Amino acid sequence: MDAQSKQEKQAQLAAIAREIAACRKCALCHSRSRTVPGAGPADAKIMFIGEAPGFHEDQQGLPFVGRSGQYLNHLLATVGLRREDVFIANVVKCRPPENRDPLPEELAACQDYLDRQIAVINPEVIITLGRFSMARYFPGARITQIHGQGRRKDGRLYFPMYHPAAALRNPAMQPEMEADIKRVIALMNTAAATDDDEENDQPPVQLRLF
Ligand code: URA
Ligand code: SF4
Repeated sequence: MDAQSKQEKQAQLAAIAREIAACRKCALCHSRSRTVPGAGPADAKIMFIGEAPGFHEDQQGLPFVGRSGQYLNHLLATVGLRREDVFIANVVKCRPPENRDPLPEELAACQDYLDRQIAVINPEVIITLGRFSMARYFPGARITQIHGQGRRKDGRLYFPMYHPAAALRNPAMQPEMEADIKRVIALMNTAAATDDDEENDQPPVQLRLF
């Protein structure tokens, strides 16, 4: 696959963000203040995918800038990462009223934008935060059963985690969140160490994916 320059990727992401800013494909366009396409380096190795913008995200046009975002920053710090090191996006780019769950038709209408962002960024790891982004890669799975268990597919690691908001509501989950983020970084490092080893193409398969 052709490695695109970071600049080319940035330009493509900016073009997608402009399309999102003008998007009227679902009813969320009527109530949003700003669209929240996602943010981070265009060549990020790690991509986090959350659910949908909340109040602060809708005001600022940036993902995870409220309380959930502060907790995400804290999690990143536990593995020595900063916000600028990762790309953060959501499955839905406009805030649902009162932060209700996104509807199936809203998820479907918005899906193409995220898929195209992923194709441009081509991250090594996709970490899903919460049920809605998990469902896209692990259909039918239950988050309590599969969080913290990565699956490799086509050279990429998919890794489901709880949503930061859930861990804030239920502090008993926070040690699990920290264990999960440490685990995904360890898995990435293992993959990097075995990259040249052709026998290591096929790590153990525990879950059906896609
Ligand atoms: N929760 C999300 O899922 N995404 C955000 O951007 C903020 C809060
Ligand atoms: Fe368009 Fe997605 Fe916003 Fe709906 S949520 S209006 S599909 S950008």
